[in-house]
Amino acid sequence: WWHSVEPAPKDPILGVTEAFLADPSPDKVNVGVGAYRDDNGKPVVLECVREAERRIAGSMNMEYLPMGGSVKMVEETLKLAYGDNSEFIKDKRVAAVQALSGTGACRLFAEFQKRFRPESQIYIPVPTWSNHHNIWRDAQVPQRTYHYYHAESRGLDFASLMDDVKNAPSGSFFLLHACAHNPTGVDPSEEQWREISQQFKAKGHFALFDMAYQGFASGDPERDAKSIRIFLEDGHSIGIAQSYAKNMGLYGQRVGCLSVLCEDEKQAVAVKSQLQMIARPMYSNPPVHGALIVSTILGDPELKQLWLKEVKGMADRIIGMRTALRENLENLGSSLSWKHITEQIGMFCYSGMTPEQVDRLTKEFHIYMTRNGRISMAGVTTGNVRYLANAIHVVTES
Ligand code: LMR
Repeated sequence: WWHSVEPAPKDPILGVTEAFLADPSPDKVNVGVGAYRDDNGKPVVLECVREAERRIAGSMNMEYLPMGGSVKMVEETLKLAYGDNSEFIKDKRVAAVQALSGTGACRLFAEFQKRFRPESQIYIPVPTWSNHHNIWRDAQVPQRTYHYYHAESRGLDFASLMDDVKNAPSGSFFLLHACAHNPTGVDPSEEQWREISQQFKAKGHFALFDMAYQGFASGDPERDAKSIRIFLEDGHSIGIAQSYAKNMGLYGQRVGCLSVLCEDEKQAVAVKSQLQMIARPMYSNPPVHGALIVSTILGDPELKQLWLKEVKGMADRIIGMRTALRENLENLGSSLSWKHITEQIGMFCYSGMTPEQVDRLTKEFHIYMTRNGRISMAGVTTGNVRYLANAIHVVTES
C-alpha cells in the first residue's frame, strides 16, 4: 500500500529539537524552538497556571466542549486582543472559536478563506515562521510574499513593505505578525503601523493578525496589542489568531482562539457557525483542560495580575539575556556589530549568521538553532551565554 511513500523532510524548527535530544554531549545548548526556559534552562510552569490547576482539580468533568470551544475562555481571550471594553465585543460583531493554539487558529482561517474566498491568495512576509507556508499550502491557498526584513540594517524594510501593500490587488489577504515578529524580532513602530493601516484601508485589504507572542514584545499584553487596536480604530474588518503557548507557557495544551471581526451580529453568527463546521470533521471539538486553565486565570482578577507579573518576568529575563549576549560578543573583540541583538524584541534574535555558520555551531559546539540564523533567546541563560557568545565569535570571525 505505501511503497511509494518517501520520508518527509525534517521540520526546520521541530527537527532541531529532535537533533538536540539525540546529541549526548553535556555541553549541548538548544536555542532552536521558541519555548521559554528559566535561567537554569528548565521548562517553566507559571505559578498562575499551577494555582488555576489547584482550583480546577477534582471539580471538572470530562464532557465535550461545544464545537467552538469554551465560551468563557473565548470571551476572556477576545478582551485581550480587542480590549476590555471593546464595542465590537459588546455589539457581538466578533465571530470566535477556540482553536488548537496559534497553528490551529491559522489553519482554521486558511480553510475558511479557501472555502468562502476560493480565488483569493495570501500575502506572507519574508521571512516568516516556517509553518505559515505549510498551513496555507495544505489549505490550498496560493501564497504571495511581501517585503519585511532588511538584511543590511537588520531592521524593517518599511518602504518595500508599503510598496508591496500598495501594489497588491485591491482586497488582498495579508498575514501580519501582531507583535514580536517570528523569526526576526523586528516590529513596525506605532507610527509605521498607522501608515500600514491607512494603506490597507486605501486598498481594501484584509489583515489576519497572528498574535503568538502577546506580552513577549514589551512585557505588557495590552501594549503588544497596539497594532491590532490601530486597525480596529481605523474600522478594518480583521482576523486574529491568538495563542497561549508562549505567554501562559501552555505549549502542549494547545489552547488558542481564532476570531473574525464581522459587519454585524448576524454575520458573526454565520461566520462562527461555518468555523465550527470546519472544525467538526477535523477534530470535532477542542480539548478542555487548557481552556479551563486560561478561563480560571483570566476570570479572576488576582490570578490575572499574577499572570501579568509573570509574563513581564519572562520578557525581562529575555531582555537581560539580549544584553548579556551582546556584551559577551563585544568583550570578545568581535569585529561585527551586534547592536541588533538588543534592538530586536520578543523571543527571537535574527542573528544574521549564515546556514553554514549555524552548521558549524552545531557540529563544533553542539549548539542547536534553525539554519536561518534565528536564536531563541528564551533558551539563553546566565550559565550558557558565554559559551554561546564564544562559539558565535569563532564561527563568525574565521
Ligand atoms: C517556534 O517558532 O519556534 C515556535 O512557534 C514553535 C513552533 O511550533 O514552531
